[in-house]
Amino acid sequence: MKGIILAGGSGTRLYPITEGISKQLMPIYDKPMIFYPLTTLMLAEIREILIITTEVDQSGFKKLLGDGSRFGVQLDYVIQPSPDGLAQAFILGEDFIGDEACAMVLGDNIFYGNGLTKLLMNARKNAEAGYATNFGFRVHDPERFGIMEIDVEKNIVSVEEKPEHPKSDFAITGLYFYPAGVAEKAKQVQPSARGELEITSLNDMYLQEGKLKGELLGSGFSWFDTGTFDSEMDAAVLIRAIETNQSRVIACPEQIAFDQGWITREQLAERAELLKKNSYGAFLKKTLEATK
Ligand code: G1P
Repeated sequence: MKGIILAGGSGTRLYPITEGISKQLMPIYDKPMIFYPLTTLMLAEIREILIITTEVDQSGFKKLLGDGSRFGVQLDYVIQPSPDGLAQAFILGEDFIGDEACAMVLGDNIFYGNGLTKLLMNARKNAEAGYATNFGFRVHDPERFGIMEIDVEKNIVSVEEKPEHPKSDFAITGLYFYPAGVAEKAKQVQPSARGELEITSLNDMYLQEGKLKGELLGSGFSWFDTGTFDSEMDAAVLIRAIETNQSRVIACPEQIAFDQGWITREQLAERAELLKKNSYGAFLKKTLEATK
């Protein structure tokens, strides 16, 4: 199973902040934004990950994440020449995906909640068995998102991109699991009225074939699409509260990799040393000592 993080775009909604830096490299409290989607894929035990960025931003991501070995994963990079829609990611990633199933997470989407790992592993299993999965989250401004309509048994009935009159208030979050063959399907997507290869059109193809499953992220979950000043601050405040309250770091790739046995004690110790001046580094040290 492969994974893609889509971290392209020029982030104009966050100008002037993002005039000089990619949005997904900016902090959400104590770590760069991209650590959140990265760890979401890692929780699904996805270790081969493609990072799609703009040309100018690629070097920043490489500096931060390298080849992934510090986190026990293997990272590849590809440039998105122009932001032509989310479904384009699978066309750009065709060689990387090969004949495997593939998940994609948007670089600015943060997922947190009890039972997330189980949901992710379930979606992974379904993707490997030929089914796509979308995750729904109740929002108060559904016209801003892709929307899933669901029946009483929680099956997806329809999907629509930013509808004027939404049929439900369940947004389709920026995390998608697809079976093998997704690149071929993405190539069949026709550009929308706004000129983009919409992920919602791709999801609709799976729906028409009876191959789209929906998972609802209920009240025990938090989801942030951190594309505005306010959502970014809200996410940071929540992360800080959780981390202070539970005295741990969430969305910590080093810790997940260590727990999974993907990095050695020495590798973790090296990261703890490098980050020793702050609470993130202290957490890595604590993780190390807890397993002595
Ligand atoms: C994109 C998708 C939309 C989805 C959203 C989640 O919207 O097109 O279906 O609900 O991400 O973050 P965009 O952020 O490109 O407006």
